[in-house]
Amino acid sequence: MNGGIETLRVELDDRGYDILVGHGLIAAAGQHIRPLMRRKQAIVVTDKTIASLHLRPLLDSLDAAEIVHHTIVLPPGEGTKDLAHFGRLVDDVLACNIERGTMLVALGGGVVGDICGFAAATLLRGIDFVQIPTTLLAQVDSSVGGKTAINTTAGKNLLGAFYQPRLVLADSGALATLPRRELLAGYAETVKYGLIADAGFFDWLDAESDKVCSLEPAALNRAVITSCRMKAEIVAADERETGDARALLNFGHTFGHALEAETGFGDALLHGEAVALGMVLAFDFAVRRGICTGQDATRVRRHIEATGLPTELREIGLGGRPDALLAHMGKDKKVRDGRITLILPRRIGEAFVMRDASAADLRAFLAEAA
Ligand SMILES: NC(=O)c1ccc[n+]([C@@H]2O[C@H](COP(=O)([O-])OP(=O)(O)OC[C@H]3O[C@@H](n4cnc5c(N)ncnc54)[C@H](O)[C@@H]3O)[C@@H](O)[C@H]2O)c1
Ligand SMILES: [Zn+2]
Repeated sequence: MNGGIETLRVELDDRGYDILVGHGLIAAAGQHIRPLMRRKQAIVVTDKTIASLHLRPLLDSLDAAEIVHHTIVLPPGEGTKDLAHFGRLVDDVLACNIERGTMLVALGGGVVGDICGFAAATLLRGIDFVQIPTTLLAQVDSSVGGKTAINTTAGKNLLGAFYQPRLVLADSGALATLPRRELLAGYAETVKYGLIADAGFFDWLDAESDKVCSLEPAALNRAVITSCRMKAEIVAADERETGDARALLNFGHTFGHALEAETGFGDALLHGEAVALGMVLAFDFAVRRGICTGQDATRVRRHIEATGLPTELREIGLGGRPDALLAHMGKDKKVRDGRITLILPRRIGEAFVMRDASAADLRAFLAEAA
């Protein structure tokens, strides 16, 4: 800790980088970014909502650090992560007379981080970029690890690159303006880390979730730091998801992806909400297969329910549609050789990759889950 700011490191040889977590980092961004710059020019990419709330202190800090800057403001929402917006974004960035030493700065949630990161990966065959995540989901997940992507008509995140940022600045102060529903969606990803690899962290969340979700500073920082540390370790061990380590981060996501697809990837069901219910389904399926105890599954369900996140298919209008859900699971990227790959829990704090879940078994499970 340094003045209430915690520094974590993603160890990736010459592409390693720091994640700074704490209060007030947006207003101090210039001083943290400047030493990494080869050319004192930054292009800030953000969305309209975030610009109205958090852009000014960032620009002031760039001025104070004598960094020349331009700002590009995108419309908010998942619809921005498409080829048309990507095309306009790279044209707008190129119009700023950039060189390879120019720094792109993504100020926003996962949408801004993903499209800006992909632009950084491809502009001039790769320019530096910094992530300043402003949603809890982006702070604990999307800003760390170097996955960047946009959507195509064929599906989500199908056009992208592994491309690591030079720095991540997770300012807990930014979360004060986040709508509660978005906060809870990000909280689901935090719970995920406890469930896949750290029972003690889950125990702590189970006792302190109210403090985290009401943005009590010490609790919030601990939740973000613990999540980022785990993601950093997993990414360092398996940067490109060639082994099982990074795949575990997809816990709750194969079910979740099916729920998102069936509800149209929109506001009806946020990604984190789908993951929350997906994790409950993964526990229940593991119990059915005799892999995990019913007590653990009940504990997870109760925890997620208590936060206000969904735990039942019928709650989100998806009861009684096992075939539709199974079809989406079959289309998921994590399918190999016609078998459905699932991340399942052995217990709270331990998950594994199951490569041969049978479609018939899953269908029966989804039909009963209602
Ligand atoms: N790259 C990865 O590893 C990875 C991982 C998980 C998710 N993702 C991607 O992340 C995206 C979802 O990210 P998200 O949940 O952050 O959504 P988002 O970026 O759409 O942000 C959610 C909403 O909150 C608003 N917002 C952001 N910060 C705010 C703040 N501080 N105060 C008030 N409003 C604020 C945004 O304008 C937006 O309307 C998806 O596209 C998903 O595919 C990527
Ligand atoms: Zn996720």
